[in-house]
Amino acid sequence: MTSIRAAITGVGGYVPEYILTNQELETMVETTDEWITSRTGIKERRILKGENQGVSVLGIAAVKDMLAKTKIDPKEIDCVIFATVTADMTFPATANIVASAVGATNAFSFDMGAACSGFLYGLSAGASYIQSGMCKKVVVIGGDKMSAIMDYTDRTTCIIFGDGAGCVLLEPTTEDVGIVDSILKSDGAGETYLHMKAGGSRMPASRETVDKRQHFVYQEGSAVFKFAVTNMADVSAQLAGRNNLNADNINWLVPHQANKRIIDATAHRVGITEDKVMMNIERYGNTTAGTIPLLLWDYEKQLKKGDNLLLAAFGGGFTWGAVYVKWAYNS
Ligand code: UT7
Repeated sequence: MTSIRAAITGVGGYVPEYILTNQELETMVETTDEWITSRTGIKERRILKGENQGVSVLGIAAVKDMLAKTKIDPKEIDCVIFATVTADMTFPATANIVASAVGATNAFSFDMGAACSGFLYGLSAGASYIQSGMCKKVVVIGGDKMSAIMDYTDRTTCIIFGDGAGCVLLEPTTEDVGIVDSILKSDGAGETYLHMKAGGSRMPASRETVDKRQHFVYQEGSAVFKFAVTNMADVSAQLAGRNNLNADNINWLVPHQANKRIIDATAHRVGITEDKVMMNIERYGNTTAGTIPLLLWDYEKQLKKGDNLLLAAFGGGFTWGAVYVKWAYNS
């Protein structure tokens, strides 16, 4: 029997127009362009402005971009997965909102909450639906409106994050391409170092939580940095090792864009030179679940059928993981 894999057959993306530069941040908090650039690699990030604009706005635009390129009928989509930590509302799922807005009226849809690793978790879940035969077309979106949960008086976090979303279409293939292998990990001990205290069921919103600025991202940056460097590199090396991937046959490393120093460490560990590392942190900052699909969106034209891609992420939870993708088409 020929085995079925899920192949990425289309990519879409969207970043909002407003550009928040390091220079503008210099006027908001005690920081400098030099510090941000040298410590993170970020020059600017995009911000979704306006009233009543949730992350669904980003997700809908990304999916519409993918639909325009692939020309598929949205009614054929069986499932929509939206990886995000900044859902429009606690419920319903933002994926439901996006599916309706793009005309995916025959799809079931749900959100995936795995922070910066959310897109890889979603990709793996979507690929399983395809492999099992349950679905023929799955859309996996990764995106966040991080500006909605950012404390713009906290210079240690507000300089990193931005808004944006990307998506992929998954379809079955019997060719030697597609999602080949993945390793996903999590460790709840990470809660201490990276979380948002209030707004959930443990600490619902109150006047006090607002006064204490508890509806914003809390991050102990240097602790998270150490876990990220070790775990993202370890999981990438493990996945590469068991698939006989090395510096010669990996065409692209596709790393979560949290900090250029973490990306460099992961590339170094798997022996990949900088020209094979996808990077857009300079322009978008850290868009949480959005970084990896936005990289695929930015680099789509450079990808060739059969290219070996190693996707890797680390983030809140802690969650981390790596996925081996053999690219399925030439643009
Ligand atoms: O994507 C989800 C997972 N998140 C991550 O992977 C993020 C991982 N962490 C990081 O990327 C880095 O830890 C940060 C970029 C957040 C911070 O960089 P760092 O090199 O770890 O800096 P630090 O927190 O150790 O702070 C070093 C110094 C401190 O000053 P003192 O105590 O040495 O005087 C900070 O107060 O830099 C100071 N500092 C700043 N200075 C200017 C912190 N933020 C800033 C800033 N501008 N924006």
